[in-house]
Amino acid sequence: MARTLITSALPYINGIKHLGNLVGSQLPADLYARYRRARGDEVLFLCATDEHGTPAEIAAQKAGKPVAEYCAEMHDIQAEIAAGFRLSFDHFGRSSSEQNKILTQHLASKLAESGLIEVIEETQVYSVTDGRFLPDRYIEGTCPNCGYDSARGDQCDNCTKQLDPTDLINPHSTISGATDLETRATKHLYLKQSNMRGALSEWIDSKTDWPVLTTSIAKKWLNDGDGLQDRGITRDLSWGVPVQYEDAPWTGMDGKVFYVWFDAPIEYIACGAEWAAKQGLDDAAWERWWRTDKGADDVRYVQFMGKDNVPFHTLSFPVTMLGSDEPWKMVDYIKSFNYLNYDGGQFSTSRGRGVFMDQALSILPSDYWRWWLLSHAPESSDSEFTWENFQSSVNKDLADVLGNFVSRITKFCRSKFGEEVPMGGDYGDQERALIADLTEKVTDYQTHMDAIDVRKGANALRAIWVAGNEYLQSAAPWSTFKEDPELAAMQVRMGLNLIGLYARLSSPFIPDTSGKLHTALALDALDWPEDVAGCLSSLTPGHTFVVPDNLFAKISDEDREDWQEKFAGTRS
Ligand code: 2FM
Ligand code: ZN
Repeated sequence: MARTLITSALPYINGIKHLGNLVGSQLPADLYARYRRARGDEVLFLCATDEHGTPAEIAAQKAGKPVAEYCAEMHDIQAEIAAGFRLSFDHFGRSSSEQNKILTQHLASKLAESGLIEVIEETQVYSVTDGRFLPDRYIEGTCPNCGYDSARGDQCDNCTKQLDPTDLINPHSTISGATDLETRATKHLYLKQSNMRGALSEWIDSKTDWPVLTTSIAKKWLNDGDGLQDRGITRDLSWGVPVQYEDAPWTGMDGKVFYVWFDAPIEYIACGAEWAAKQGLDDAAWERWWRTDKGADDVRYVQFMGKDNVPFHTLSFPVTMLGSDEPWKMVDYIKSFNYLNYDGGQFSTSRGRGVFMDQALSILPSDYWRWWLLSHAPESSDSEFTWENFQSSVNKDLADVLGNFVSRITKFCRSKFGEEVPMGGDYGDQERALIADLTEKVTDYQTHMDAIDVRKGANALRAIWVAGNEYLQSAAPWSTFKEDPELAAMQVRMGLNLIGLYARLSSPFIPDTSGKLHTALALDALDWPEDVAGCLSSLTPGHTFVVPDNLFAKISDEDREDWQEKFAGTRS
């Protein structure tokens, strides 16, 4: 049995994500996980909240809660919303887990053994009042370039100039407002990424089938950016994976934690360990996915992420993996996405602009969103959410094409033959032509889904729904019934079988609707229609069903206008 390991980029813990975040990693990852499972693969689909770093500390401070408590609560909220979108993770973990701490520290030791870690002594801003070294973001002052008075230690938000904290005029601590700042000597760990340039370059060059978006970003950073500069991987924060652990190959690092981008991708692996532990399984259960010496060499590992995450997944995380000199499973395919914009601008978390995941579910069921987002996934370029487009896509594709088809055929059957598949004769020329056409279309659909071409997959699925509609339109059992009820019965039998086919094929995109069709038609299983002709004959005369409730409600102009106004921005 083929095995597919799938990870989605880990959403930051610092708030509820918007639809642009969702379509950039978790949702397409779920689509692919559902598709691979449906095709019979053994799948392990992992995701987790990314809980360390200054953004987590700042969000907790804003919420007036201890950071551990804030993260625990926000993790549960994100997990619940993910479940609302039917994201079918095998495990939704936490980068603050014990497993991640152990693995992160282990890998740091391994990198040190490989000579890839250097302890560097440098000077850094120390706040006497706060009794700690301050990360750049915790220092604010006046920008020497433009005079903006709230420039951060790392960058001025007003003129975008990259800054060093010592450049700021009248600097103060954002924790306490203290101005008694001084520079003191301190030690940090640096990952010598540049030593791995050869190995990394060879690894990236071997990935000839990766999407252009992924390789172009990877190569840009590898070759002409400063992406492979040696990087500081430690920070002065209290929340994170401690750098000074038992048997650590360095001393004097108390009070420091690893940089969030060092431990976050390691959580992909640790999440597998959490998944196994949760079920009471031993280490072998997750190692067969993650260690090539323990069976993972026949696993295909696919990662999903937004384009801003590509450098970390093609350079720094692979440096950790390859540099550890241990047999970790490396990613086989990186599917990356451009950005989704919102109604003439950008989604903005800070300004509350756009639709956030919880809000989306409060107005419409998840399948409406899944369908629109996936069929408009920002693959070859950025794409844009507009309420007009959303309304038209839901009303046409879901309500008119799929919903209407199901409703028409089931209601017609109930009124003329009762709620069971009618007898009728054998399929004729028109049905044989339909089967041949659908066989081709299903192959087409599979080809796009195999290639993780999300939009093309959605288009192919829509074409399959349309073909059924066209058949029904031209067969017109409501007309043939008057002259030839036998013929109409056979056409209705085909129509009901088409619903069974749709339930199966649509499940990766709109799982709830598939489930409803599955129940209404009392299908044995939602197994993949490897043989389209066989699937279209599988519901036999006498098989009972019920007419499902209306599958999709149309979006009215009034609703659309209300929502447009409601989500224009100001969520606090
Ligand atoms: O960009 C982000 O939202 C990050 N939290 C993604 C982390 S992905 C992984 F490497 F952990
Ligand atoms: Zn400035």
